[in-house]
Amino acid sequence: MENISVLPDTKQLVAMVVEYVVNLAAEAVAQRGHFTIALSGGSTPRVLYEALATKPTADRIEWGKVHVFWGDERCVPPDHPDSNYRMAHEALLKHVPIPAENIYRMEGEANPPIEASIKYTKTLLRAEIFSKEERVGLAPRLDLVLLGMGDDGHTASIFPGTEVIFEKTDLVMAYYVAKLGVSRITLTPPAINAAAHVAFLVTGESKAEMLKNVLTGPYQPVTWPSQVIRPANGELVWFVDKAAASLLE
Ligand code: 6PG
Repeated sequence: MENISVLPDTKQLVAMVVEYVVNLAAEAVAQRGHFTIALSGGSTPRVLYEALATKPTADRIEWGKVHVFWGDERCVPPDHPDSNYRMAHEALLKHVPIPAENIYRMEGEANPPIEASIKYTKTLLRAEIFSKEERVGLAPRLDLVLLGMGDDGHTASIFPGTEVIFEKTDLVMAYYVAKLGVSRITLTPPAINAAAHVAFLVTGESKAEMLKNVLTGPYQPVTWPSQVIRPANGELVWFVDKAAASLLE
């Protein structure tokens, strides 16, 4: 069975994930001098970012040694209300002493969006922070990738029925998501699955059925893309609240 923590509510879930992040960051900094994390969009991650930015928690992380990446981005400028960068900036980054050069943003404003995916691929390939030992092939081995899950089973911007689900080589893709009528930029499964730790944050009753499908149903990632997240040589953890877990045995 998967590594699943069920918490009574969002508040307690966030408190647990805060400890998880603080500990992983301390461990990574002690071992290699830095901590690399990919952030996601979504409502539960936002509450987590706010908690990480709040003292005394904020003082438990050596922000100067943290390098922040994104799992996905909406195709909008960085000051747009829909921007995942903006959300993370407002909730977390502007409140903590993290150097600007440690923030690796996906350029949602790029037109066409494929330019952003090409550029972000180069960012990942060239980032000196990842030594040879911190790569799986060419993919960076991020210390932690935070993910949400939509009630349609998508994660990051890997949506049902899309080609990105089966991507094997590219690390970043930008593509048109027909069901949303917009383009998205996303890390691909090989990029996410190269991480040392991947954590899903899932809350609310509306996710219950999909959580059951993803965790206990047959492997069919075309319909349930979150199933494609299986770190090759890393840890996969699910932090879910009671409402989202209500249909699990
Ligand atoms: C995004 C996200 C996306 C999100 C899920 C869950 O940019 O929209 O990265 O994958 O995490 O849709 O979002 P909620 O936590 O708001 O349900």
